[in-house]
Amino acid sequence: MGWMTQATTGAHRADMVFLWVLAIAVLMLALITGAMVYFVIRYRRARHPQAAQIEGNTALEIIWTLVPLVVFVAIFYFGWTSYASARNAPADSMRVQVVARQWRWSFQYPNEKQTTVLYAAVGRPMRLEVRSLDVIHGFFVPAFRLKIDALPGRVNEAWFQPTLCGAYDIQCTVICGVDHSSMLAKAVVVPEEAFRRWYFGGEDAPAPKPDETAGPAPAPAGPLQVLNARGCMACHSVDGRVMVGPTFRGMFGSRVEVLARGGPRADVVDEAHLRRGIQDPGSQRWKGYPPVMPEGGLSAEELDQVVAYIRSLK
Ligand code: CUA
Repeated sequence: MGWMTQATTGAHRADMVFLWVLAIAVLMLALITGAMVYFVIRYRRARHPQAAQIEGNTALEIIWTLVPLVVFVAIFYFGWTSYASARNAPADSMRVQVVARQWRWSFQYPNEKQTTVLYAAVGRPMRLEVRSLDVIHGFFVPAFRLKIDALPGRVNEAWFQPTLCGAYDIQCTVICGVDHSSMLAKAVVVPEEAFRRWYFGGEDAPAPKPDETAGPAPAPAGPLQVLNARGCMACHSVDGRVMVGPTFRGMFGSRVEVLARGGPRADVVDEAHLRRGIQDPGSQRWKGYPPVMPEGGLSAEELDQVVAYIRSLK
């Protein structure tokens, strides 16, 4: 029942505005429909063959001007205050970078910890800085009532303050390519101590309640963790399967045809080729694959690890 859960303070505020507007709409629907049905029956032709001319009524006109005015101003007031609070993160929020790419979400914490699961602590406000490395995506956590576009070349911000432990769905709301529908992740909210243990401690992920462990398992340490966190594994396999991009298995040392700047040419996959391909994929697209690989942005250390790892997958 993800749509019913209110897992943040903002979710509660958003729902109050929604219910308030819904209540007014239902009330107006009932009043207008009721009046209409009443007039249709009361003044039907059989009972009232001759139309009557009715002159203005000042008191009535003042009432039906003032009452809707108050109602609409109230809708604006609740909508505006809710919007303002959704825009302004508390100053003590933890800042987390949310990076979208085809077709994976990744999260980076102030201490450089990088994950594919958005971990958060109950009661601690978290400010998200959302960006995309390729096309437009939409970051949506239904249980948080939090939804914001992830755009290339722009940082969008949103924040939330969890009130309830659990694992919540993260979805992409913008059609962003063939695997859009599987661009899913989890937001896992844990008690403050568990969060701190994870944040300041080793690689152990904080555990949600047993029935809510549906989120993707944290990647093992090392190059595979880098590949997972950077979203590489959405398109590349390590077991020979060809996905959106070529598999890493047997890649090293193979001969490929690349569509380089200045025309196609043959190349051998050596260390230099891998480094170029990861950091500047536009310089040597592989023939036969869609030109969708984003620039890696790996640190020198991560690049060394990944290249050595691919090299080992002969
Ligand atoms: Cu990313 Cu749809």
